[in-house]
Amino acid sequence: MDYQKFYNSSIDNPEEFWKTQSQNLDWFKQPNTILSKDKHDYYQWFADGQLNLSYLCIDKHINDGFGDQNAIIYDSPVTNTKKHITFNQLHKEVSKLAGGLQALGLSKGDTCIIYMPMIPQAIYAMLACARIGVTHSVVFGGFAPHELAIRIDDCKPKAVITASHGIEINRIIPYKPFVDEAIKQTNSKPEKVIVFDREQDVEIPKKPYDVDYKTLLENSDSIDAIPLEATHPSYILYTSGTTGKPKGIIRDTGGYATALKFSMKHVYGVEEGDVYWAASDVGWVVGHSYIVYGPLLNRNTTILFEGKPIKTPDASTFWRVISEHNVKVMFTAPTAIRAIKKEDPEGDLIKNHDLSCLKYQFLAGERCDVATLHWTEQKLKVPVIDHWWQTESGWPMLANMVGVQLQDVKPGSASLPVCGYDIQILNEEGQEVEAGVEGLVTAKLPLPPGTLLNLWENPQRFKSGYLERFPGYYFSGDGGYKDEDGYVFITGRVDDIINVAGHRLSTAEMEEIVASNTSVAECAVFGVHCEIKGQKPLGLVVLKSGATTDYEAIQTEIIKDVRKEIGAVASFKDVLVVNRLPKTRSGKILRKLLRNIADEQQFNIPSTIDDIAIIDEIKSVYQTHHIGIH
Ligand code: COA
Ligand code: AMP
Repeated sequence: MDYQKFYNSSIDNPEEFWKTQSQNLDWFKQPNTILSKDKHDYYQWFADGQLNLSYLCIDKHINDGFGDQNAIIYDSPVTNTKKHITFNQLHKEVSKLAGGLQALGLSKGDTCIIYMPMIPQAIYAMLACARIGVTHSVVFGGFAPHELAIRIDDCKPKAVITASHGIEINRIIPYKPFVDEAIKQTNSKPEKVIVFDREQDVEIPKKPYDVDYKTLLENSDSIDAIPLEATHPSYILYTSGTTGKPKGIIRDTGGYATALKFSMKHVYGVEEGDVYWAASDVGWVVGHSYIVYGPLLNRNTTILFEGKPIKTPDASTFWRVISEHNVKVMFTAPTAIRAIKKEDPEGDLIKNHDLSCLKYQFLAGERCDVATLHWTEQKLKVPVIDHWWQTESGWPMLANMVGVQLQDVKPGSASLPVCGYDIQILNEEGQEVEAGVEGLVTAKLPLPPGTLLNLWENPQRFKSGYLERFPGYYFSGDGGYKDEDGYVFITGRVDDIINVAGHRLSTAEMEEIVASNTSVAECAVFGVHCEIKGQKPLGLVVLKSGATTDYEAIQTEIIKDVRKEIGAVASFKDVLVVNRLPKTRSGKILRKLLRNIADEQQFNIPSTIDDIAIIDEIKSVYQTHHIGIH
């Protein structure tokens, strides 16, 4: 197929294009209305159609005679477990859990938080919610109780589904105690906490609201999937914004199913029955779309991997999983490859595994540096595809659509717009810039199916954050440029969001916590280059006069505060005491300048700076503490 023709048809006639794609799903009621506007005057897809994600991910395949095919392969080096779960088994688990949730009083329109490690029960929980129209919100396990509490208060779940514990390298993560701690902090209390006991001698504190997962299943009847409107919110996924409060991205049902089914074939190039592996976590959008819903909708076997690219037990784990489970397409973040490359620079461990099953290696989550791209290409000897998307989009916006037509790979570029996304690079005035000129990355409305519907309980923030800056366009928050061939190069966020090991984090949120320390007069938190994680947060603090001179104690306290409030995932490990911060004459802290000095990038000294001498002061602090890329 010709990419350009196919892409053009999606932009020239989106309704026709997506109507055709929607017909690849088994709807309970086929939609007649393809594109319309909702009560907020924003676009929605397939408004009068009815379907169910859980049905499409499970029952449909059983009806088609594939009940014995593996739906999930759970591979857990941290517990030394491997388990193959067929669509028939998945049906049993999910339909019974859905029955259990219903018996506890959960029904369509309710919300439920899922806070779980990478175990099959996390997927069962998501699909059980989807089966009965309960909107789930999965919270990544690396977030601390306080972050969980913020999300509970925002989406007011009737129940929380959790597990006794998770397992990180050399560490047990106490999920259930974290849930208890979070509930203590909330105003809105969930009625029930359903706890899956992993039975590994980890003590589970008991509370009156607890329900044992296994007992619930034993006493429940299997139930069928119910028809849901295409616009029904299948989930809320919180992601970092530019303030301390995360944004609850709302995903629909019909548009999402259409887009994911389309993407499995056309973006990732997999056919039904193939094995597909996204090495992410169910707590992130990659996990939602490409560990759970995308592959299962397309009748692929999905790998659920509970481990890390390194140290579980070593840097060969990824290659073992690919060859052992016959993975055709794999997806990870460049940071994982950098971690592997550091441990095994020559890729010697790859040679011990037969990777002939692998056809494509996809990378996303952060910009892929050229060295990582080349190393992966040379070692794996398959096309390595950098592709760009966000929690908001739910599926790729820029990619080399290998299922349509494999294009040349240009290092540093996430390739070309995916069908449905009219990507335009605009200047501050909203005019499209010429090839080679950097600007703000936008997509002309309407966005294709599967993209965010709105922000949970906050339509105003949705409008102001994404739609108002350039009327008629969705603003991504990223900067970038196109080359003469239309390839897009993403250069990074233009706001206070940073990307640490493929995890999206808000420096504003960290700054709020640092600023709340009683010894801190003012502070700045920003992202600096990190060889493995891409970026890492750095905090600079000015202490109040009369505050202690024991800088080490203050630093330790601040680092502990951020870990306690946000969680280990923030990777906040560097904080330096300075005498003052560079500011404009109107008092605005020059964070970009601080970052550029640390990254030893060329920078223009802003003409508005209040005192130029501070630049040398900051450079000297960085030098003393070995901050910098070299
Ligand atoms: N539950 C609890 N804690 C978690 C966690 C989870 N699910 N995931 C990470 N953490 C903790 C880690 O244990 C670590 O704690 P520490 O500071 O005590 O060491 C901290 O959060 C930071 O984790 P991470 O950023 O993952 O760093 P790491 O040093 O443990 O591992 C990599 C580095 C590169 C190997 C790892 O980040 C990785 O595999 N990244 C892949 C990225 C990815 O999947 N991104 C998703 C988008 S595609
Ligand atoms: P998240 O919402 O967590 O998926 O993070 C989305 C952000 O990660 C984007 O806005 C980008 O800043 C960054 N990102 C994701 N994929 C890429 C990529 N392939 N290249 C550059 N940046 C990326």
